[in-house]
Amino acid sequence: MNKIRLDGVSAPERSSSVDISENTPILRSTKKKYRSKTCIVLLVVVVLIAAISVLFVYTRNGSDGEKPDPEHELPPSFMPMGSYSNVGVVSNGGPCAQIGVDVMAKGGNAVDAAIATMLCDGVLCPEYMGIGGGFLMSIYDGKTKKVTTINARESAPAAATAEMFVKYPEKSILGGLAIAVPGELKGYSTIFKSYGSGKVSWKSLFEPTIELCENGIQISDRLEINMKNHEELIKNDPFLRRAFFDEKTGHVKKSGEHYTLPKLAETLKIVSVEGAEAIYNGSLTKQLVEDIKKVNGIITEKDLANYEVEVKESMPVHLKSGHTIHLGPPPSSGVILAYILRILDGILPAPNPGLDAHRFVEAFKFGFGERTHLGDHNFVNVTNIYDKITNDSYIDSIRNKISDTFTSLDPKYYGADYDSSENHGTANIVVTDSNGNTVVGTSTLNIYDNQSHGCSVITRSA
Ligand SMILES: *[C@@H]1O[C@H](CO)[C@@H](O)[C@H](O)[C@H]1NC(C)=O
Ligand SMILES: *[C@@H]1O[C@H](CO)[C@@H](O)[C@H](O)[C@H]1NC(C)=O
Ligand SMILES: *[C@@H]1O[C@H](CO)[C@@H](O)[C@H](O)[C@H]1NC(C)=O
Ligand SMILES: *[C@@H]1O[C@H](CO)[C@@H](O)[C@H](O)[C@H]1NC(C)=O
Repeated sequence: MNKIRLDGVSAPERSSSVDISENTPILRSTKKKYRSKTCIVLLVVVVLIAAISVLFVYTRNGSDGEKPDPEHELPPSFMPMGSYSNVGVVSNGGPCAQIGVDVMAKGGNAVDAAIATMLCDGVLCPEYMGIGGGFLMSIYDGKTKKVTTINARESAPAAATAEMFVKYPEKSILGGLAIAVPGELKGYSTIFKSYGSGKVSWKSLFEPTIELCENGIQISDRLEINMKNHEELIKNDPFLRRAFFDEKTGHVKKSGEHYTLPKLAETLKIVSVEGAEAIYNGSLTKQLVEDIKKVNGIITEKDLANYEVEVKESMPVHLKSGHTIHLGPPPSSGVILAYILRILDGILPAPNPGLDAHRFVEAFKFGFGERTHLGDHNFVNVTNIYDKITNDSYIDSIRNKISDTFTSLDPKYYGADYDSSENHGTANIVVTDSNGNTVVGTSTLNIYDNQSHGCSVITRSA
């Protein structure tokens, strides 16, 4: 076993020199304020996670992968801090949060606003999400206080086999075989019908995004970095080239410049009038299947027609603080978040910020160890993880394995079946309306790394 001693972290006299100031730990101060408001806490946790991942991306890009030193306080977040009394939207793409707010101003609820916001994020952050992908979502009903979880992740086509990527793993990332049956639009349609306010039309949720696609979308700093990493891919694909390549400079477009997506605007217009069925069993289905076939994909019309969104009541997990975490079944990692927070419940705050960070990281390592045993609950027996989360003595036993004086580099120490590589690139949105309804959604496209961009295939019809 590979243990690393962390002498500095454990030295108790450190706690006086690195004093915890009142306003440093975000979690601690928010906890007091919103003790009984589950949804807000859920929101804070999600926002926190989003903020943390943004921070990681930022520090990775900003300082040559140099890791922050937990012994020293981090500077305040560069993200703007907003305080809202009526409604709130957190999203990734410039104008998208405002689009969500506008929907609520017209009488829509958090679910309606989430759909409009996500449609917009799909065109502003095409490297993270879009209508070719899928999402997981929790919907908190301000009236009944119930949380419903939605699984609209992409699913494998019927002709897929467990072995299809064994010989050529890269085919699970790039090209036609990597295309799964998209869940995004069917997901929007399902939540719109079941949880929307009924006060705004389906079509109206698409209009702002269609307008952006036609009139031009401003390239963010983030998208510029992504495009630079994919210059070859963009240059060689006629569709991507038209949108993102500057023929004058011979390079991809830059931050602040604009791109249009006229073909996608057409597709969105059709879906806004005909409904999601246009894709799944309607006027766009045939063309989509043909396009996928041309790049050696195996999705059939039947796969699209059979695609189903999973809707489930959440499982509540209670913490000592009185907070309740609401989670859906895997493939959502909610169970892992609950597992981690259960471990941390009672050992944070530590005597000093360095130890806070150490315990936090160790709990995450045990959580991600558990994650290696999980899979889609429809295919993998995941009852074990629920038993563990709800078993106090089991959680105690894991907590007792966290030492303030060492850490391990051996995945097995943390109960992992294998070492999982770093991976990022999903988009998270949060919407709260004035009735307390809250929506938290995470949308993604397969894998995001320096070589792939979704599956790097764009259908001519979309
Ligand atoms: C599409 O829907 C029609 C009914 O509108 C049905 O008859 C047909 O079987 C469906 N297609 C598939 C592939 O399931
Ligand atoms: C799942 O595994 C548990 C043991 O961890 C077992 O009790 C249960 O019967 C299994 N469920 C199914 C459907 O196989
Ligand atoms: C709870 O966890 C403890 C410690 O791992 C274990 O001994 C016990 O059997 C578990 N109880 C249940 C009901 O699974
Ligand atoms: C992409 O990342 C891999 C390692 O994950 C690296 O070997 C490769 O050189 C990178 N490619 C580019 C174009 O940066």
